[in-house]
Amino acid sequence: MIIAPSLLAADFGHFARETVRVDKAGADWFHLDIMDGHFVPNISFGPQVVRAIRPLTKMFFDAHLMCSKPEILLEPFAQAGADQINIHVELGEHQVTSLLWKIRSLGKKVGLAINPPTAISMVQPYLDQIDSLLIMTVNPGFGGQSFIVETLPKIQQAHVWRRDLKLNYHIGVDGGINFATAAECARVGADAFISGTGLFGQRSLRVAINKMRKLVTENARDNGLDFDRHALPAGHAAKT
Ligand code: DX5
Ligand code: ZN
Repeated sequence: MIIAPSLLAADFGHFARETVRVDKAGADWFHLDIMDGHFVPNISFGPQVVRAIRPLTKMFFDAHLMCSKPEILLEPFAQAGADQINIHVELGEHQVTSLLWKIRSLGKKVGLAINPPTAISMVQPYLDQIDSLLIMTVNPGFGGQSFIVETLPKIQQAHVWRRDLKLNYHIGVDGGINFATAAECARVGADAFISGTGLFGQRSLRVAINKMRKLVTENARDNGLDFDRHALPAGHAAKT
């Protein structure tokens, strides 16, 4: 189980200090939200910031490109120290194939992200080409939004494909992830939990990360829980 705090929810006046804090708190991945003011209506930070914090930690850097022209950003982020780069399936099929290939050719882990309104079938052709599937559980652009419960069936479908096709991509969830929604996602098959305000809003980041990891492990889809009974969406209480 991967717990990935998002830098977007950190104190932007102190990127370096916040990076060290996240590292010391025991995070597995550091999620880096890159917004271009076009693909999403917000701007975050660029490769220079990633380059600046790279020497401070050995954490796995998970870059999430919410950008209309990721082709001009793959190399800069790869050189700046990203370990995994996620691009969006909404860019369209002729772009996605070459972008995934380019990320791989840069020696980085390959991630594919999908927005809440986009049908999960859109990612199906790429499942054997990716290391991670990032299922957006809010409409991207801003931290602090509420989890969209209708995304749960997509997580479950991604899990079924992974099992049936014997693939081993991560299933990440991103947006509105707190202790309760992380547990819900774990029950339907998620194994990477991106959380901004849900973790940074807690008094102790270390305690919060440990608590979330324990919760998702207890609620994990692969824990031998009955698949149909715990399937979907609401109607049951997760162990919290
Ligand atoms: C949303 C970003 C998320 C964001 C999550 O556009 O992709 O990674 O940081 O923030 P929270 O956890 O606050 O919803
Ligand atoms: Zn993100």
